[in-house]
Amino acid sequence: MTEGSVPVARRHGHIRWPGAAIGLFLSGAAAAGAQSLPPLTEVAGDPARGEALLRDMGRASCLICHEISQLDEKDMGEIGPLLDGVAERYDAGELRARVADARTLNPDTMMPPYYSLDGLAGVARAYRGQTIYSAQEVEDVVAFLLTLTDEAAQ
Ligand code: HEC
Repeated sequence: MTEGSVPVARRHGHIRWPGAAIGLFLSGAAAAGAQSLPPLTEVAGDPARGEALLRDMGRASCLICHEISQLDEKDMGEIGPLLDGVAERYDAGELRARVADARTLNPDTMMPPYYSLDGLAGVARAYRGQTIYSAQEVEDVVAFLLTLTDEAAQ
């Protein structure tokens, strides 16, 4: 291996990041697993669009597994932790890392990787080669999660 080339261990990380994210990701915590990720796009996320995505049960909704009291949906799951006040526990980068690919933090997680194709072999043909969310949709969901403060949960 020549000096300056990408070490093999890093190329075999859990996530294959498209486009511009690759450089940022590899320069950061790739080997240890990403605890935090920089923004995936240059356009700030829109919390209202993020909320709409979360409520869309046809898009592998977070609410299958997580409850968020203020959304007042009838049928929410309890497999994952309650997301009330989650903005007090994690910053934007930490939330983004979890939504993009929670396996970087817990390889055995049940949480689907919303922005990774790694290990998604065998999905229905219509969905092959696509991440669950686009980069902008990840930003929208993160922007919504950041509104989930303790105050918002009152
Ligand atoms: C199939 C179930 C499932 C789905 C769907 C799911 N999650 Fe999770 N999530 C989990 C589980 C289980 C955990 C607990 C940590 C772990 O196992 O990785 C978790 C952890 C989290 C955490 C950390 C919470 C904490 O208090 O530590 C956040 C934030 C989160 N999920 C956000 C989301 C968002 C946003 C979505 C939708 C885009 C989503 N999850 C979809 C199961 C799920």
